[in-house]
Amino acid sequence: MVSQAIIPLAGLGTRLLPLSSVIPKELLPINGKPNLEYIMEECVQAGIRQFIFVVPKNRPSIKKYFFNDKFYKKIIKKKRNDKRLKRVFKKIKRYQKMIKFVYQNKPDGTGDAVLKCKKFLKGTHFLMLLADDLIVKKNCSKEMINLHKRTGGSVIATRKVERKTVSRWGILGFKNKAKNSFLINDVIEKPKINEAPSNYAIIGRYILPKKILSVLKGQKKGKGGEVHITDAIRTLVKKDEKFYGNIFQGKYIDCGTLQGFINSGLAISKYL
Ligand code: G1P
Repeated sequence: MVSQAIIPLAGLGTRLLPLSSVIPKELLPINGKPNLEYIMEECVQAGIRQFIFVVPKNRPSIKKYFFNDKFYKKIIKKKRNDKRLKRVFKKIKRYQKMIKFVYQNKPDGTGDAVLKCKKFLKGTHFLMLLADDLIVKKNCSKEMINLHKRTGGSVIATRKVERKTVSRWGILGFKNKAKNSFLINDVIEKPKINEAPSNYAIIGRYILPKKILSVLKGQKKGKGGEVHITDAIRTLVKKDEKFYGNIFQGKYIDCGTLQGFINSGLAISKYL
């Protein structure tokens, strides 16, 4: 059973500067709600019971967003009839029970973030989500958990992208393609066009096996000086570990670039 979700939240958010110099990009509101909450809602609906947030110690706002009881209690005392406020606080309290924090003080990449979660990981597989990749209309995590249940393998969310953009993504190589899935036989982080094994890109959802931790432990830094989860996945794929691409049915909204973020409010309102 996949019941835990890791959400790396220690990135610099360079593509969203200057906004992200003050507010962590995962808390920037899209239609009145941070993208982090959209991601959490998707997870809860898919059966996730625990979130592991990987944050830097010197960025307290994410913790504060979810754990600010004193502040809420003080206001609720003054505004006893504010139903919305009570509803909001109730939701926050529900999330509080589900969140654990793990610290990553340098933005050393997704692989390093996963490694930092070691002591909390329980089952054979866990979910990892990148908070700037929103997928709406159809629950992608649910689709992936179903594919994992059917196959017993690991799963990565994927969609076709324009070939000229492959160097922006992790790109999957595959065989045995069915309508909505395929068996992965290669994966390369941000390849040059002539190195890309296909034009199916990784979008930020992964169901990973716990054994990936032992690969990550000895892994050297890759592109951009970061420890990429993509490189650890490649090692496992080359050892014949089963990884499936889930060609998700929902609508992808890229919130990780300024243009994407600007478009996201309008895009998301069409599907809610
Ligand atoms: C990360 C991953 C990449 C993936 C992308 C999806 O890249 O490293 O494999 O395709 O997310 O958004 P980043 O967006 O951090 O550059």
